[in-house]
Amino acid sequence: MKVIIAKDYEEVSDRAAERVIAALRQKPGLVLGLATGSSPVGLYRRLAEAHHNDGLDFSQVVSFNLDEYVGLAPEHEQSYRRFMNENLFDHVNIRSENTHVPDGLARPLLEHCRDYERMIREAGGIDLQVLGVGRDGHVAFNEPGTSLGSRTHVTALTRETIEDNSRFFEGPDEVPRFAVTMGIGTILEARTCLLLAVGEDKADAVRAAIEGPVTSMVTASALQLHPDTVAVVDEAAAGKLERADFYRWQQENWGLIDQKL
Ligand code: GLP
Repeated sequence: MKVIIAKDYEEVSDRAAERVIAALRQKPGLVLGLATGSSPVGLYRRLAEAHHNDGLDFSQVVSFNLDEYVGLAPEHEQSYRRFMNENLFDHVNIRSENTHVPDGLARPLLEHCRDYERMIREAGGIDLQVLGVGRDGHVAFNEPGTSLGSRTHVTALTRETIEDNSRFFEGPDEVPRFAVTMGIGTILEARTCLLLAVGEDKADAVRAAIEGPVTSMVTASALQLHPDTVAVVDEAAAGKLERADFYRWQQENWGLIDQKL
């Protein structure tokens, strides 16, 4: 895993945006895996700016979101579909029929999960997957204890996640108890993963994900087995990394290596 330690949220967003924009310029029909949460909001803002100011073209992009709450209609204020519309899709020229977010109202849900996997395959697989990380080390809604080979599935949310996400609802009782989520096996098939983490609250999760043992107890740790993952974390989220100096050293020297290759 390549680890980039950035100063703060703004710099994390800059570094992430550079990568997504470069991938999009290289492949206009990019299949983009997208995440919700506060971590990627700055990235999405920069993508919208690049569209407005520099004509970054999303007309051929196909997107797949990681997850959605079960029971929330797409137009619900807290649905991930609505989040994506408001934070990205409404601000770029992506075709709405090319955007995919799991449908929390779909029935039967298990069939919907299988269809979601099929749609990803038929689109040619995900080129670049944006990821956040939960305080307990989950990616998407792959809570601790989820199989590292899991595919898109229905999961119960942990009390911790319900508590964390209750800030967006009237209170914890309003947070849905279940979600549809891509599995870890699904995510690991993305060609490139871009993991974003910001703030002191994420320091334990970041440490466990990057340096801890690969374990279903911290599903983000499965990314250690992925051939091309870049973690972009701010100073606060990097605060507990044992090898932080080494990552910084690498970061400083990449320029030299690149020039010679
Ligand atoms: C939720 C989402 C995850 C996200 C996590 C962290 O649980 N399902 O995909 O990574 O929250 O969110 P934030 O970026 O707001 O800290």
